Amino acid sequence: MNVSNLREEALKEAEAIENADQLKSFEIKYLGRKGKLNDVLGLLKTLSIEERRELGPKAQKLKKELEEIVAFKTKEVSLESSPQIDITRPGKKQELGQLHPLTKIQNEIHDIFMAMNFSVVDGPEVETEHYNFDALNIPPDHPARDAWDTFWIKEEVKKIGSRKLLRTHTSPMQIRYMETHEPPFQIIVPGRTFRYEAIDSSHEINFHQLEGLMVGKNVSVANLKYVIETFMKKLFKRKIEFLFRPAYFPFVEPGMEVDIKLENGKWLEMMGAGMVHPRVFEEAHLNPKDYQGFAFGMGIERLAMIKYGVPDIRLFNSGDLRFVKQFKK
Ligand code: FA5
Repeated sequence: MNVSNLREEALKEAEAIENADQLKSFEIKYLGRKGKLNDVLGLLKTLSIEERRELGPKAQKLKKELEEIVAFKTKEVSLESSPQIDITRPGKKQELGQLHPLTKIQNEIHDIFMAMNFSVVDGPEVETEHYNFDALNIPPDHPARDAWDTFWIKEEVKKIGSRKLLRTHTSPMQIRYMETHEPPFQIIVPGRTFRYEAIDSSHEINFHQLEGLMVGKNVSVANLKYVIETFMKKLFKRKIEFLFRPAYFPFVEPGMEVDIKLENGKWLEMMGAGMVHPRVFEEAHLNPKDYQGFAFGMGIERLAMIKYGVPDIRLFNSGDLRFVKQFKK
């Protein structure tokens, strides 16, 4: 009985295995219950103790080796029998994603203002009553508060002005920025705003605004008009009719609103604007005798409605892909 010969024979045969059937026969022939290895192991009993000591471990070692070969070949054979990929077949086209129209217009707005040397600043969506109202010259009993129907956050109130709310506009960032920065500066603050009001084709409860603030020694209404006009021209790339009309906001003096003429001839209110009120400077610890500034707050959905001809503001949050896909480049 020669274990080495058996090993040689088995290895040679293993090399030639090409498919599952051959592997199965191989396994039965060598490792099966009545296979060659078992024959050898059975024969061991008939041998002398010395011979057993010599051949026993060799036969066990071969058994292990053949089991490993079978395991390896099993993997190899199963890989080869899996369906082949035909690389000449046309592939399935992956549809490309795209930006939401609001993201697109925001990117464009940022570029336009950055070209005019404005910085883009971010602010909190959950605000305190102080920043959203009081510091903007809208104390608790002020009738102007009715203009901003507010989502209040339910929690224990510790001191006046610390009640929390979802910001109704981006104007609180006027105060926050002026508190921490020395003029001159010019910033825009894009972001989500929230109002507890009835939804219709031009009003959402959750929409976006873009605040603008420019403060310096000699900033005037002329600068405000120039910035707004330049912005509109660059954004719409066509002649747009718009008008500045006087309006009241407690945090500006004088205040105005800018309306844009729609294609159907109707006017749509686009933004509030004005010169920063002296009280607002004081709230932000700046001396109103030293500085002047303008501020504006516009509705981003409203701008997108005009730029892209969107008839209803509710489409932006509809999740309807047919709507979003219209804005593919
Ligand atoms: C304000 O929110 C002021 N903070 C704007 C301002 C800033 C005035 C700085 C002066 C100086 P108003 O409530 O008008 O103002 O809103 C500003 C713009 O946000 C509107 O002109 C409109 O374009 C948009 N907007 C207001 N409410 C909604 C709404 N419910 N849905 C969609 N857009 C809205």
